[in-house]
Amino acid sequence: MQSSTGAAATQGGISSSRIDSIRAAEAKIFRKARPKSEAAVGKGVKGFFGGVPMHWMNDWPTPFPILVEKAKGATITDVDGNKLADFCLGDTGSMFGHSPAPVAKAIRRQSRRGLTYMLPSEDALVLGKLLSERFGLPHWQIATTATDANRFALRVARAVTNRPKILVFNGCYHGSVDETFVRLDNGKPANKPGLTGEFRDLTQGTKIVEFNDLPALEAALADQDVACVITEPVLTNCCMVLPEPGFLEGLRKATRATGTLLLIDETHTISTGPGGYTQRYGLEPDLFVLGKPVAGGVPASVWGISDELAARYEAYNRSKQPGYSGMGTTLSANPLQFAAMRAALEEVMTEENYAHMEKLAGRLAAGLEAAIAKHKLPWHVRRVGARVEFICAPGPLKNGSEADAAHASELEAAIHVALVNRGILIAPFHNMMLISPATTKAQVDRLISAFGDIAAQLTA
Ligand SMILES: Cc1ncc(COP(=O)(O)O)c(C=O)c1O
Repeated sequence: MQSSTGAAATQGGISSSRIDSIRAAEAKIFRKARPKSEAAVGKGVKGFFGGVPMHWMNDWPTPFPILVEKAKGATITDVDGNKLADFCLGDTGSMFGHSPAPVAKAIRRQSRRGLTYMLPSEDALVLGKLLSERFGLPHWQIATTATDANRFALRVARAVTNRPKILVFNGCYHGSVDETFVRLDNGKPANKPGLTGEFRDLTQGTKIVEFNDLPALEAALADQDVACVITEPVLTNCCMVLPEPGFLEGLRKATRATGTLLLIDETHTISTGPGGYTQRYGLEPDLFVLGKPVAGGVPASVWGISDELAARYEAYNRSKQPGYSGMGTTLSANPLQFAAMRAALEEVMTEENYAHMEKLAGRLAAGLEAAIAKHKLPWHVRRVGARVEFICAPGPLKNGSEADAAHASELEAAIHVALVNRGILIAPFHNMMLISPATTKAQVDRLISAFGDIAAQLTA
């Protein structure tokens, strides 16, 4: 936990002055190794607002963004010739490695046949079947981002239930879906701070309770005005929070008892296995969303619904006024997506690849835990399949409020840059590390050793 009381403020048990001095020293090392990057992007790139093509690129804690020459498998090479073992993997978009060979081949093949035509191709005929078999829901639609898939799925949920509200868990993130940007502020629902141009009170349409709090959930659903609960099975977008035993079962029971639909967003927890957390743990969602890595790095997402929901949606469509549904985007469900997704599902998201990812993720988590214990740091490690996270606070964390308090942003930034200087890239927003099918044992051991080295410096 962070503390700013007393003369010497600390984060994660480390004094602010030590964090600052390590961060400054590591920033120097970073710059020295990247003269070309610094010359090109150190002062921002002309022509882009904020100096980058997308503002998130300014959120890395490095002194300036790394200018990438190429990425292959689990390695990124920058324009200065530095090689990084990539555990960020495009924050999950490249979870199966950069340009997996079967996906690259499918892209090459499709590039000769047209990239978008608002009509199905033969790959689409296979895809519907693949998605149904893989994720257990029979009816699918393709979109381009997980954000859009969530938005469309929530619309269907509201349409068929004729209920206005949704419910989210504190600390959630489901993409830039407006109605999910609510948080608990000292226990009271409020808009998240910092929302650009948002003038609505989002709490009018969104209820919010803490993850792992079944009584609060049951009370919130009792009014029967919530169309849908949207959640990840594990909260991954704050410091990782695992469901307590019985919580997901209780969630399903409470939603069914109140006629509320359940949307499981597997965009990150697909790290669990080929069928996601849903298949591994027998969840029974009414709606299912998966984006990011589902087409091996080509922008694509999928959303699926159950038979029962499909029947209700058909009835709704028969009765609704004609006119634009407000769902769909022009480039969605294009043949490049079909080809890449088919290759990813058939040849990349395989049991064999997941077995490799699971094994190395277990090795990584154990190695980090050992280093934390050795240096007597008050930190802990969490893992969901191929997704590992170290959290600079004691654990386990129970909910979004605890996860929020566990963030140690300055300390995390110092560790991040220090890891880059040791040839390791982890996620910029939190301490997330992904294992891909291309990740090697040597890369994992390098990360464990670098982490131990940094922990020694922090505690020296
Ligand atoms: C669980 C979850 N759902 C949805 C999204 C949105 O994905 P995208 O930004 O590709 O729309 C994210 C992004 O981080 C996510 O973590």
